[in-house]
Amino acid sequence: MAKQLSIERRLKLNDGREIPQLGLGVYLSKGKEGERAVKAALDLGYRHIDSAQMYANEAEVGAAVLASGIPREQIFVTSKVWDSAQSKCLVSVQDSVKKSGLGYLDLMLLHSPNPGKATRTKAYGDLIKAQKLGLVKSIGVSNYGSHHIEEVIAAFPDSPPAVNQIEVSPFFQRREIVNACLKHNILVEAYSPLGKGAHVDLPELHEIAKTYEKTPSQLLIRWSLQSGHICLPKSANPTRIKENSDIFDFVITENDMKKLDALETGSGVTWDPTTAL
Ligand SMILES: NC(=O)c1ccc[n+]([C@@H]2O[C@H](COP(=O)([O-])OP(=O)(O)OC[C@H]3O[C@@H](n4cnc5c(N)ncnc54)[C@H](OP(=O)(O)O)[C@@H]3O)[C@@H](O)[C@H]2O)c1
Repeated sequence: MAKQLSIERRLKLNDGREIPQLGLGVYLSKGKEGERAVKAALDLGYRHIDSAQMYANEAEVGAAVLASGIPREQIFVTSKVWDSAQSKCLVSVQDSVKKSGLGYLDLMLLHSPNPGKATRTKAYGDLIKAQKLGLVKSIGVSNYGSHHIEEVIAAFPDSPPAVNQIEVSPFFQRREIVNACLKHNILVEAYSPLGKGAHVDLPELHEIAKTYEKTPSQLLIRWSLQSGHICLPKSANPTRIKENSDIFDFVITENDMKKLDALETGSGVTWDPTTAL
């Protein structure tokens, strides 16, 4: 399986559509910097961009996609409904689509379960409406714990989330949530795969990475893809955007995958709404 990975590789979603396994994260990539990052990524062969209302760059992402000249349907664009917009979810999805200028979004997520059961359940119902209206092609969730996954499946058994976007790295593997997703054929999108940059200088990663003549960042992204996740590294720097996609000419051995799996610490680098009630 690992040998077949490529920048073009797409995974099948539970709604029948496909998603590129490697995506560019654009949190904090704002304004012209964001537009340049998306352009650089598309030029390098990335076909998946992960944005959100909260990142305030849906317009720049859309502009870069349109300026690329690449047919719209070949590029997969995600956004997320921010917590404070979940009470008026459908209107906010319409607003995101309009801001992007793209006519539709490929994937819309609820950014987190934090607004509480009643609000997030109604909001998910709105995502289904948005999908039926053609505003978004696929729908999903982010930062959902296994109890949230069971909750949304119970409420909407015919429209399960296509993905759950959560923090995942060798240091924070989220096995319980990953297993709940696998059980329902929901793909896991791994965010903060580089630990927000905190992991890229760790000596234990250098040790393994240098045996492949790769950097720790490349090792972390490759680990994520070989673990079966969709991986969303963020960089606003074209050189690092290139570095992060130059990962398809090596395979992490089973033994090294085990060594990386053994780095689990049980804690992450960012917020963790997966435990919300
Ligand atoms: N759903 C959610 O709640 C949620 C939460 C967090 C993140 N996300 C998504 O996941 C994406 C990625 O997560 P993240 O932004 O938190 O962190 P990340 O991808 O783990 O790390 C990004 C940081 O690493 C640096 N970096 C990138 N490539 C590097 C390389 N090759 N060598 C050294 N440093 C490198 C970046 O700096 P430069 O830009 O200067 O290269 C940036 O500071 C986000 O952009 C967003 O799309 C979602």
